[in-house]
Amino acid sequence: MAMLNWDTLREQCMGCQKCALAETRHHVVFGMGRPDAEVMFIGEGPGENEDLTGEPFVGRGGKLLDDMLEIIDLSRERNIYITNMVKCRPPQNRDPLNQEQEACIGYLRNQVALLKPKIIVCLGRIAAMKLIREDFKITKEHGQWQEKAGVWMTAIYHPAAILRDPNKGPDTFQDLKGLQAKIREICTHTY
Ligand code: URA
Ligand code: SF4
Repeated sequence: MAMLNWDTLREQCMGCQKCALAETRHHVVFGMGRPDAEVMFIGEGPGENEDLTGEPFVGRGGKLLDDMLEIIDLSRERNIYITNMVKCRPPQNRDPLNQEQEACIGYLRNQVALLKPKIIVCLGRIAAMKLIREDFKITKEHGQWQEKAGVWMTAIYHPAAILRDPNKGPDTFQDLKGLQAKIREICTHTY
């Protein structure tokens, strides 16, 4: 895919039939947030509420995510961009297959190319394994940082995982404080 603008990229994605998820989706969930964001959050894929509305992270997990962001003065309206590894809902919320992620990743790569984020935060293991390292262990490596092609990368627990296991809350609070510190260190207009 050649370099595009946001409108063209969104249009292409909205009509996409590149993998089998196109057959069962109701809405493509492209992503949302500020086109000038320095911080990008990347989840796994749309769930039921997202598939029905076309917006990322709008269910119970989405509410938790917004609450987590608010702790460190971030919001999708104000200063971040948020999207997913795959833009269409996997049936029964199963993990997206590798072939589906491969079919879809061009959209994400173009989103990154347009946004030029300083920081990418993977939400959960699926994004971390694809974007940071194939054998990334979220329980051990959440909150750690590494620079990749000039972008600072980290992963935190997925909100759905925190809802299933509230014991992950304190670690996630620490990871958010680490994110806040990194933003203060390298971002120029997030805060
Ligand atoms: N889970 C995700 O990973 N992404 C969403 O958009 C919603 C739930
Ligand atoms: Fe296209 Fe991605 Fe949807 Fe598959 S998941 S149909 S590649 S937009």
